[in-house]
Amino acid sequence: MATSEARRRSPQGSWTSRLAFILALSGAAVGLGNVWKFPYIAGENGGGAFVLVYLVCVFGVGLPIMMSEILIGRRGRRNPVATMGLLGEEESGNKNWYLVGLLGVGGSFIILSYYSVVAGWAVAYIFQGGSGAFSGASPEQIGDIFGGLTGNWVTSAFWHTLFMGMTVFVVVRGVVKGLERAVRTLMPVLLGLLLLLLGYSIVEGNFVEGLLFMFAPRFGDLTPTGVLTALGHAFFTLSVGMGAVMAYGAYVPDDVSIGTTSVIVVCMDTGIALITGLVIFPIVFANGLDPAEGPGLIFVTLPLAFGNIPGGTIVGTIFFLLLTFAAWTSAISLIEPVVAWINEHRGVSRRAAAIGVGAAIWALGLLSVLSFNVLADLNLGWGTYFDSADFLTSNITLPAGGFAIAVFAGWIMSRRSTAGELRLANPTAYRLWRFASRFVAPLAVILIFLNAIGVLAWLGLTG
Ligand code: PHE
Repeated sequence: MATSEARRRSPQGSWTSRLAFILALSGAAVGLGNVWKFPYIAGENGGGAFVLVYLVCVFGVGLPIMMSEILIGRRGRRNPVATMGLLGEEESGNKNWYLVGLLGVGGSFIILSYYSVVAGWAVAYIFQGGSGAFSGASPEQIGDIFGGLTGNWVTSAFWHTLFMGMTVFVVVRGVVKGLERAVRTLMPVLLGLLLLLLGYSIVEGNFVEGLLFMFAPRFGDLTPTGVLTALGHAFFTLSVGMGAVMAYGAYVPDDVSIGTTSVIVVCMDTGIALITGLVIFPIVFANGLDPAEGPGLIFVTLPLAFGNIPGGTIVGTIFFLLLTFAAWTSAISLIEPVVAWINEHRGVSRRAAAIGVGAAIWALGLLSVLSFNVLADLNLGWGTYFDSADFLTSNITLPAGGFAIAVFAGWIMSRRSTAGELRLANPTAYRLWRFASRFVAPLAVILIFLNAIGVLAWLGLTG
């Protein structure tokens, strides 16, 4: 419960119901991470055993951090920077916790600058698929389509611009008329399309082989690096550690249960990732293609399959429409914390903030566009701008934010504050949450870090 009357509502407004919040948070969570990244990293890491570890990470580490992030957001009722400063002062007399909020806002800004470019490719593929470009195409031809899109900066920039425009269009309209209305339409459609594709895969794909690939654990295929990939992806896919969940948490009505909604959202995100795998792999197997294709799985391997299956043109178009919707609702959640911050901190109107922030992210995104052509040889430390931005956010700012949030909720905030905000009916559930927040989550992040800076490899623990 917020501590003072002035803190009962965020200046941005609030979700009109629990369902709206569930849809918004699921929309934030379900994105390129589920449809593009999860299937290919599962494919690269042997399938079943990876899926098992991923489930442990999502529920053991991701879920408690998501609860912490929502509870902090709702208690502060401001943008993530102001909220962290406010609660830091309140709980420990130290305002400097605002830096954690700033890390999140900065991270969201950078993630969107490359996320939007990949999302733009998805939009382009709706049209490619719809025009029958995949139909009967050879692997070389599909490679040329993808290469033509990423290699030509003007084309790629066009789709990136369109996607950023779509994102700003929604965010300008505010929490209820923009965000909530968008997720209320897009999320049910997304679910419907996914089930349609699942039905198709069951009937037309090699479903049994796909099922076995995803769920029969072959532990021999799982490396320690694979375990860490699963852990890192648990953060990314749930959108935690970035302030996005905190921003959405600020709009949650007081009577909504944080525990129950978090469990629903995590199940939804995980379910959608698993179903996506069950859509993709049976199609990949039925066409004798390689599940361990890597990042090109969706943009190269899958279109090849779409080109050779009955009804492939329509199935392919639906698939990329789904990918676009998933990315769109996530992009909205990435820009929202930045817009809320500029609006509340600088007193700029929400509309101007959304347009200004959108333009700035768009401009930075051009570096991502150029990373595949003109600036492909530019090395910013971890490869191109695109690769460096992905590495920096996925492996550094996201886990660091998650660590700080877990530590703040588990160690800095009083038991009274967290128990009062979570109001879990079951005392064991509270104890479990607190244990995970204090010990499991921070330790898990330390492992990701050690891996990222190569310490584990140096100790001979990872390959
Ligand atoms: N969870 C989103 C996805 O799976 C990505 C994301 C990360 C969105 C962090 C917001 C914040 O695609």
